[in-house]
Amino acid sequence: MDTGLVHLHNFLRWVILILLVGSMVKSFIGWQTKKAFLPADKKLWLFTMIAAHITLLLGIYQVIAGRYGILKGFPGEGSFMKDKFYRFFWMEHPLLMIISILLITLGYGMSKKAVSDNVKFKKAFVFFLLAFIFIMVAMPWPFREIIGRSWFPGM
Ligand code: HEM
Repeated sequence: MDTGLVHLHNFLRWVILILLVGSMVKSFIGWQTKKAFLPADKKLWLFTMIAAHITLLLGIYQVIAGRYGILKGFPGEGSFMKDKFYRFFWMEHPLLMIISILLITLGYGMSKKAVSDNVKFKKAFVFFLLAFIFIMVAMPWPFREIIGRSWFPGM
């Protein structure tokens, strides 16, 4: 089961990235061209947030009870903070990803704020852009040493 959940967590990264880039591009265009905020915009932001929250739940499971979860214990000597692999998967990755999910949630929250459509687009764009940067930094990209993982699940 653990492997299946890691694969799902891996796959959802692409869903988040596609939806997030879409949300970012649409909010930037909406802001710059002074478009009206439409239900379709809200739906896209909502789906982005839902994908992020499902990934968050899977991540929390993994960091607690997954193959390298805290419940399995740190196999090395001393503090896990001195181990690049465990420091990344127990601290850096969860912390930065939680911040990014918070930013995505704030971006979606702009759809409900009683402000002008232009302000909605502008602020949401900033939240989505920051979330995107955090995700890019915290991702275990395949080219990263020690912590790198595959581009797609099970590869
Ligand atoms: C936007 C949110 C997130 C994205 C895009 C993301 C992406 C990824 C990816 C691509 C992997 C590699 C999976 C593989 O080996 O195939 C991974 C692993 C992992 N993630 Fe995340 N993650 C996110 C959020 C989180 C959060 C919030 C946590 C913890 C609270 C977390 C904990 C973990 C752990 C522990 C692993 C290693 C799992 C294992 O190999 O057993 N992730 N994540």
